[in-house]
Amino acid sequence: MTAVLLPVLTRRLRLREFVPGDLAAVRALTRDERILEYTPTETRALEAVRRAGTAPARRRRSYELAVELRRGGRLVGACDLALDGARSGDIGYMLAPRHWGHGYGTELACALVEFGFGQLGLRRLAAVVAIENDRSRRVLEKAGFVWDGLMRRHLRTPAAIRDCHRYVIDRERWASLSPPCAAGRGRGS
Ligand SMILES: CC(C)(COP(=O)(O)OP(=O)(O)OC[C@H]1O[C@@H](n2cnc3c(N)ncnc32)[C@H](O)[C@@H]1OP(=O)(O)O)[C@@H](O)C(=O)NCCC(=O)NCCS
Repeated sequence: MTAVLLPVLTRRLRLREFVPGDLAAVRALTRDERILEYTPTETRALEAVRRAGTAPARRRRSYELAVELRRGGRLVGACDLALDGARSGDIGYMLAPRHWGHGYGTELACALVEFGFGQLGLRRLAAVVAIENDRSRRVLEKAGFVWDGLMRRHLRTPAAIRDCHRYVIDRERWASLSPPCAAGRGRGS
């Protein structure tokens, strides 16, 4: 595995470690009704921001990252990549609703894909999405993921217990992708 370099930079976003001062913004995200339609109340982001500032585990198994706009530095979301086996992992993400529809979701999903394969040297990434969550399914497809199966009653959110689709992307597919996700490989500048 190559050395992990954070933050991850994309054209418009910075994916960085949480700091204690992010707590209010992350709480607001995780309490937003439109986000709670498709995510549980207790998210990895919330756990991570509560741990922020403490010494990281020696062998890191997950990367929970704040998503901020490079211009202005506002925190607009959160995302994570959790390692779940030998060189595989799964990703998750959320954005404040006022920032939906500008391509940020795709940009950050692509950044997680690049991070997982490019920096962590993974062989496979997965993502699980509620079947009603068309917006996120579209993001995954644009980031190169392909449908892998149905998971009945997999996700419990305050809104409902939801059936989910599982999506995957393997290293070979990632390596063969055309833009957007194959574009601008590397950490940006
Ligand atoms: C999922 C999420 C990150 C998407 O963010 P976003 O910035 O709006 O995503 P993008 O703008 O990059 O792309 C959204 C795509 O969905 C499409 N879309 C929007 N509404 C849609 C709908 N109702 N049905 C189908 N597609 C839709 C958009 O047209 C766009 O696709 P296009 O570029 O081909 O036109 C954001 O909606 C979110 O945070 N949702 C709540 C949390 C969540 O669902 N997390 C994912 C859990 S798996």
